[in-house]
Amino acid sequence: MEKRERFSSRLGFILISAGCAIGLGNVWRFPYITGQYGGAAFVLIYLLFLVILGLPIMIMEFSVGRASQKSAARSFHVLEPKGTKWHWQSWACMAGNYLLMMFYTTIGGWMLAYVFKMLSGEFEGLDAAGVEGVFNGMLGQPVYMTVWMIVVVLGSFFICSLGLQKGVERITKVMMSCLFLILLLLCVRSVTLPGAMEGIKFYLIPDFGKMVENGIGEAVFAAMGQSFFTLSLGIGAMAIFGSYISKDRSLTGESVSICVLDTTVALLSGLIIFPSCFAFGVDPGEGPGLVFITLPNVFNQMAGGRIFGALFFVFMFFAALSTIVAVFENIISFSLDLFGVTRKKAVAVNIIAIILLSMPCVLGFNLWSSFAPLGAGTTIQDLEDFIVSNNLLPLGSLVYLLFCTSRYGWGWKNFIAEADAGQGLKFPKWSRIYVTYVLPLIILFIFVMGYYQKFFQN
Ligand code: ALA
Repeated sequence: MEKRERFSSRLGFILISAGCAIGLGNVWRFPYITGQYGGAAFVLIYLLFLVILGLPIMIMEFSVGRASQKSAARSFHVLEPKGTKWHWQSWACMAGNYLLMMFYTTIGGWMLAYVFKMLSGEFEGLDAAGVEGVFNGMLGQPVYMTVWMIVVVLGSFFICSLGLQKGVERITKVMMSCLFLILLLLCVRSVTLPGAMEGIKFYLIPDFGKMVENGIGEAVFAAMGQSFFTLSLGIGAMAIFGSYISKDRSLTGESVSICVLDTTVALLSGLIIFPSCFAFGVDPGEGPGLVFITLPNVFNQMAGGRIFGALFFVFMFFAALSTIVAVFENIISFSLDLFGVTRKKAVAVNIIAIILLSMPCVLGFNLWSSFAPLGAGTTIQDLEDFIVSNNLLPLGSLVYLLFCTSRYGWGWKNFIAEADAGQGLKFPKWSRIYVTYVLPLIILFIFVMGYYQKFFQN
């Protein structure tokens, strides 16, 4: 068996974990649900949930990873009391990582395809219907989407094949630095557009009246779900990075840094999107099509829009790629932990597995589009997203939570000792009652509401 690698630096750990967190959830999902739920009031609720919900669970995942020195495929086996069945969760974690990638690789491919569409000027001169036609045209071409998906899969696995330090860490650091630079550049461009102020107000001044009008329950639920998704919690995707670090730093402090980076990117993505939508009279409440259908219209009207549009999709692509690389690292480590194979072999097998597993998502938009698993108009991608976001993330988070707080699991004492080992912020002891008794109920509520909304509303 190969020796377990470690990150070369603390910055590497933070940026890769942030890279895993920063993804489509920040740059694609966050802006459109903020648009749908009325802007700043929603943002405030979301921030609250990040702190009271996301942060403690992230610390727990890192603790389990660091204490076990294993990926989610083996970590419960190492830490659970003898004779217990917590390790069943490892199957859900592995399934969760694969399922997330089964649709993420396709959307990553769309992002990359859009970089080239923007650069080649494909949108120039098109009206709103024309721009929408480009997106729908893409969805109708399985071969085209498959090619872009395969490019993304091969590129990401190539990075992982170079090793943890030389591949994942080195390249993610560069990618994240570029991502932050492009983000700042695009923010400056967007907020200085004439007429941007309306968008900034919509985004930054809370209007709770409007939120109540649109249904406060739904907004709260969406904010909770988003806080799990954006931090990739519940499937051990984060835990693995805890297994690559030493005990020099306490895990609460490190998790705060990662959450801050993740939130900064989400908030600034909104600061790119809303002012430009308002400046050019485009509705930001469009939903999932916001990025692919709405924004090219904005770039069409903007001076230098071809370049800014291409940069915007490079930014989106880097966000997606940083998550894909991080989750692929997880997937590879499952093979390493379970079968003791070499990294190269794990990469080779998983390239084939991920390409095949990504195909249903691609085909769900065209050849298999008559299959509407969650009701009329839904696709296989919706089903995969639903299984991950509404089931594996909340239920998996609940398992991590109970494992760390219950005496029938790893237990509070072990968890606190691990989380607090090293310098930095400690896990607040006074929160024990909250995390042990209240937080599980909040998570169960999210889970039940998810089903209610999906199947009983409307
Ligand atoms: N955390 C990842 C994202 O935000 C899954 O996209």
